[in-house]
Amino acid sequence: MDTINVRLIVNGTPREGRCEPRKLLVDFLREDLGLTGTHVGCEHGVCGACTILVNGEAARSCIMLAVQADGSELVTVEGLARDGRLHPLQEAFREHHALQCGFCTPGMLLAALDFLKMHPDPTESQIREGLSAVLCRCTGYQGIVNAVKAAAPVLRRG
Ligand code: FES
Ligand code: FES
Repeated sequence: MDTINVRLIVNGTPREGRCEPRKLLVDFLREDLGLTGTHVGCEHGVCGACTILVNGEAARSCIMLAVQADGSELVTVEGLARDGRLHPLQEAFREHHALQCGFCTPGMLLAALDFLKMHPDPTESQIREGLSAVLCRCTGYQGIVNAVKAAAPVLRRG
């Protein structure tokens, strides 16, 4: 099958690759760009494990084609830490035991970042509702809620 050129900005860096038009964005990130931090769970838009930011908004990279993202700016979990320091949200997840196996964590972090942008001072129930699109099979969610609540004022301060 013919391949198509896909150019993106990923975590602030221009990236480019060729792939078949049917290739999923998550597979392009993992297989073509080597960014394996984005996880693949259900592969049909249900679990949220593959959530990334596309042009600043949370999106499920398993239900987008790589070619659809051509020209977009993406943020994946690899883009959160800076200069060897965890992002404040990652720090809060570590502090509040918001992960166990870690499978949901990349998607949860990106979904939480997008959520906190729209809800900078969220209540617990807003956090639960806002993150309900990402499934976690381990934590029971309380640690995740605590972490997002703790990170909110840190992110507000910038
Ligand atoms: S792997 Fe994309 S939503 Fe489950
Ligand atoms: S930490 Fe295991 S699925 Fe969330």
